[in-house]
Amino acid sequence: MITCSAPGKVYLFGEHAVVYGEPAVCCAVDIRTRVSVAPADSVTISSSLGTTGIDFETHPYVSAVVERFREIISLEGVSIRIVSEIPVGSGLGSSAAVTIATIKALDTLLGTGLELDDIARMGHEVEQRIQGAASQTDTYVCTMGGVVMIPQRKGLDLIDCGIVIGNTNIFSSTKELVANVAELNESFPEVIGPVLSSIGMMSTVGEDLVNSKDYVSVGKLMNINQGLLDAIGVGCAELSSFTYAARNNGAYGAKITGAGGGGCMVAIAPREHVDDVAAAIAAAGGEAVVTEATDIGVREE
Ligand code: MEV
Repeated sequence: MITCSAPGKVYLFGEHAVVYGEPAVCCAVDIRTRVSVAPADSVTISSSLGTTGIDFETHPYVSAVVERFREIISLEGVSIRIVSEIPVGSGLGSSAAVTIATIKALDTLLGTGLELDDIARMGHEVEQRIQGAASQTDTYVCTMGGVVMIPQRKGLDLIDCGIVIGNTNIFSSTKELVANVAELNESFPEVIGPVLSSIGMMSTVGEDLVNSKDYVSVGKLMNINQGLLDAIGVGCAELSSFTYAARNNGAYGAKITGAGGGGCMVAIAPREHVDDVAAAIAAAGGEAVVTEATDIGVREE
């Protein structure tokens, strides 16, 4: 049996603006999806959602990966088991992580010799097939790990402080939120255009601050980024309440991560304060996870 894992990710800066070509900074985090594969006579895919064969309802990403491998190598059967620490549909890159970990596991089992760039590319193709449209961000960051400025794919220094994620457990549709921002931008281009450019500027200004480990300033920029995300209508009461809870309990800064409207927020904090920050988010009604940045992308376990 072969087991491979891939990390989730958060946005330090730049979600939504990245859709308009602005830079964003993403950070792989040490909550991982593990995929184990073993030779078998037929295809079985098992996860907390149940056990299926190729099944695009229950296991769309893994099913698409198996079909993609069948285009390049003979593959009758395989047993695939998924165990994930990344909450599904919360903006933390769970679909990219399961896709990338499955590709690496099958590559290792079948000896197809894929390089990391090939894995990221195949992962993006699979996400596009399943979602219709997908940015390359999630699949790239979760393959490579680390802190990455996109679309430049420039590696920044690893974040060396605590990271706390607060999950609202409120489902939100990325497609809908991206469409809402587009509508707002069409209605008020003179207002929303500069807001999106300012969000992009966070990444440009934030790059040096991340590399010089000036987390007080990174946190201030994250707080400004949060204000601008609220301004373009992707906030919600729970996300605001968790970000204030985090900031009032020792975080350097806190903001939405991902599409917003629900899903998750992220705070960075001195390591001695992460438990206080997590407790404050939990007291405000969130599900808090304390984690760290990781430079370990997809890997065999
Ligand atoms: C969603 O995780 C991030 C967005 O910027 C959309 C995207 O980049 O595809 C809102």
